[in-house]
Amino acid sequence: MNKNIESSLIFQDHTTDKTIEQILNFLHEQRGFDFSGNRASMVKRRIAKRISAVQVIDPKEYLKYIQKDLSELDELINVLTISVSSFFRDPILFESHSSWLDDIILRKQTSQEKDIRIWSAGCSTGEEPYSVAILLNEQLQNETISSDFHIFATDIDREALRSGEEGVYSLGDVQNVKLGLLGKYFSVEKNIYRINEQIKEKVSFSFFDLLHKRSFSPAESIFGGFDIVLCRNVLIYFNFDFQKIIFKKLYRSLNSGGCLILGESETAVEKYKSKFNKVNNCCKIYRKK
Ligand SMILES: C[S@@+](CC[C@H](N)C(=O)[O-])C[C@H]1O[C@@H](n2cnc3c(N)ncnc32)[C@H](O)[C@@H]1O
Repeated sequence: MNKNIESSLIFQDHTTDKTIEQILNFLHEQRGFDFSGNRASMVKRRIAKRISAVQVIDPKEYLKYIQKDLSELDELINVLTISVSSFFRDPILFESHSSWLDDIILRKQTSQEKDIRIWSAGCSTGEEPYSVAILLNEQLQNETISSDFHIFATDIDREALRSGEEGVYSLGDVQNVKLGLLGKYFSVEKNIYRINEQIKEKVSFSFFDLLHKRSFSPAESIFGGFDIVLCRNVLIYFNFDFQKIIFKKLYRSLNSGGCLILGESETAVEKYKSKFNKVNNCCKIYRKK
């Protein structure tokens, strides 16, 4: 049977929503991740994937399966947090760096705190923080001031974090990297692209759950105080209540005048719109007032 038809049949039963809730509750109890605020249609689609993968017939059977085989919970977390990323994803954002990155560099010239602090929240396998690190390194080379920078890259997907720390990518991953930058910031061996140490040491990876009740910014950053926060293609997975929880953290962790960058199809949560100025019309960049 075609897999898509299979998945839609699995979810025709009206008791399904209750079972999906039980699956998410079990996941929460066992692993501490709360996916109840994720978009219902997305959760169902992804659970259907795992139902097909482990070859059980419906969500009820899948609930029994995860209760017996706890290792399946890791697979379920993986599909629910889908860690897709790429270097220089959304090229217009990176092309328009004069409106956000260069502006921050300029502000640092008159600021006492010369170093630039950046948070990549939901960094996946590192392509986003490394892209910003490459861009910033290029920009700072043209400046007369001696600013340095550090990027705190966080996620809840431990495997993705490990992969980011390793900094090894395929040809497909780096296809948006301009040839000059590829030669300058990566070493290549048998179609494997390894990010240079110079860039690697600018990025530190750590676990941080954006839905955590008490923490507002990654512990490693000590106090937040970021000049730039990127949280791209993360909010889309959450309903509005959960987006509000995440947005509060992003807002609190930014310095005033700092920039928040969202994904192409994301917008600022209504309650916070008046606390930001939109930086330009082509991208989702917001400057904290
Ligand atoms: C689609 S990826 C986005 C990667 C990158 N920001 C980009 O735009 O290319 C979404 C990431 O959000 C992470 N994520 C999902 N829920 C999260 C949470 N509660 N806290 C932190 N990260 C989360 C996922 O693990 C995944 O790596």
